[in-house]
Amino acid sequence: MVEVKNLSQHEGDEVTVAGWVDQLRVHGKVAFMVIRDGTGYVQGVLVKKELPEDVWEAATNLGQESSVQVCGLVRAEPRSPGGFEMGLTEIQVIGQSPEYPIQPKEHGVEFLLDNRHLWLRSSQQRAGLKVRSEIEQAIHDFLYNREFVRVDTPILSGAIGEHAGSLFETDYFGESAYLAQTGQLYAEAACPAFRNVYCFGPTFRAEKSKTRRHLTEFWMIEPEMAFVDSAGNMSFQEELISYIVERALERCMPQLELLERDLSKLENIRPPFPRVSYTDAVTRLQEKGSSIQWGEDISGADETLLGEDHDLPVFIYNYPKAVKAFYMKENPEDASTVLCDDLIAPEGYGEIIGGSQREDDLDRLLARIREEKLPEEAYGWYLDLRRFGTFPHSGFGLGLERTVAWVTGRSHVRELIPFPRLINRLYP
Ligand code: 4AD
Ligand code: MG
Repeated sequence: MVEVKNLSQHEGDEVTVAGWVDQLRVHGKVAFMVIRDGTGYVQGVLVKKELPEDVWEAATNLGQESSVQVCGLVRAEPRSPGGFEMGLTEIQVIGQSPEYPIQPKEHGVEFLLDNRHLWLRSSQQRAGLKVRSEIEQAIHDFLYNREFVRVDTPILSGAIGEHAGSLFETDYFGESAYLAQTGQLYAEAACPAFRNVYCFGPTFRAEKSKTRRHLTEFWMIEPEMAFVDSAGNMSFQEELISYIVERALERCMPQLELLERDLSKLENIRPPFPRVSYTDAVTRLQEKGSSIQWGEDISGADETLLGEDHDLPVFIYNYPKAVKAFYMKENPEDASTVLCDDLIAPEGYGEIIGGSQREDDLDRLLARIREEKLPEEAYGWYLDLRRFGTFPHSGFGLGLERTVAWVTGRSHVRELIPFPRLINRLYP
C-alpha cells in the first residue's frame, strides 16, 4: 500500500491506496472520487465501461467518509489535488458511511462540537490540530536542545497548586485529592536534581469562565530553572515564543494558508519583547478609559487593550502580591508587588504565559501560605525545598491552546484541542 504523499514516486505504476471518501462527483459515465488518507488527497477516476456493473454501482453510491481501498494507475494531473490522479480499476469498500452528519454546508458550532469525533476530519480542524502537534514538538525540541530534563508531574495531588477557587476535587480512598492546576511545585522539587527541568501535561481548572480563552482542561508547558531571576525568566520566554512562531512558519505553511492566517503578523515576532510594569500598565489602561485601579487584577478585556499597543507580545511584570499565587517571590524593592510576569499576545489573544521568580525564603513562603489560608500540612514537602539548600529559581507556564489559537489566528481555544472540556461540555 502506498501513502498518498508518496504518489509522485509511483507515476506510471499500479498502486493500492486506502482512505476515506472526501468527495464524490458522478458525471454520467465518469465519476471522481477524492480520497483522503491522512497524508494527502488523491483523485480517483472511475469510468463506467471499464468497471464491473456492481462495482460501479457500489462505488458511485458511497456516502461521504466511507472507507475504501482502491487500486489504479498513477498519472500526473495538474488539476487534481496533489498533482496526481489514479485511474481506478478496483474499489473495495471497507466501511460504509450512510448519512454522514457533517455536510459541506454551514453547521452551528454546538452541533459541530457535539460531533467533535467526526469534526476532527474537516480540513480547518485538521490544520489547527496539525499546527498544535508541530508546536508541541517545537517546544520539546527547544527545551531538549537546551538540555532541560522532562519531569512528569502527578495529576492527582493533595496540595493546591495555584488557588483554592478553581479546584476539581475528587475522593482519593477517603482523602481529598485535586486534579493538578499546575505541575510547577513538583517541577521546583526536581530543579536541585537536574537544574533545568520542565513538565508538560494536562491541567485542570474548575473555572466558571465561558470565554473564548478558557477550557476546564488545558495543556501547559512549565519550565523551571535554577539560578535564574525574573528578568532572565522573561528573556527565556521570549526566546521560546519566537522559536515556536518560527517553527510554525517554517513547517506549517500549508496549514496556516488554509486557515488564512495573516502571516505578516507572525513574521516579525522576535526578541526583545516590550516589558511594561504592572504600575505603568494600570496608568496606560486608565488613559485608555479602563476603570482598573492599582491593586486589581488585569481583566481579559484590559489585556486586549494592552495587546493592541504592540505588534509583539508584551510582558506585564511585577503585579500586586494580592492578586497572584502564594509562591511568587516578594519584590525586594517594593513589598506590595511580586517578581512575576504575564505575557500578553497581540491581536486580542490575551495572556499566553504566566511566570514568576519563586519565593525562596522559608519564613516568607510560610507566611504567604498562612495568609492565603492554604492547608499548611499539605505543603511540608514544598517547604522542605526552602529548608534544604534553597536557591533562587524561576519558571513559567505556557498555555498550549491559547498559544496555538494565536499562531493559527483562530478565535476560540476550543478548536485547538482535540476534545475540548468546557463548563457545559464533557462529551464526546
Ligand atoms: O498563569 P497560570 O495560572 O500559571 C500557572 O499555573 C503557573 N503555575 C505556571 C508556572 O509558573 N509554572 O497559567 C499559565 C497559563 C496561562 O498564561 C494561560 O495561557 C494558560 O496557562 N491557562 C489557560 N488556558 C486555557 N484555559 C484556562 N482555563 C487557562 N488557565 C490558564
Ligand atoms: Mg496567569
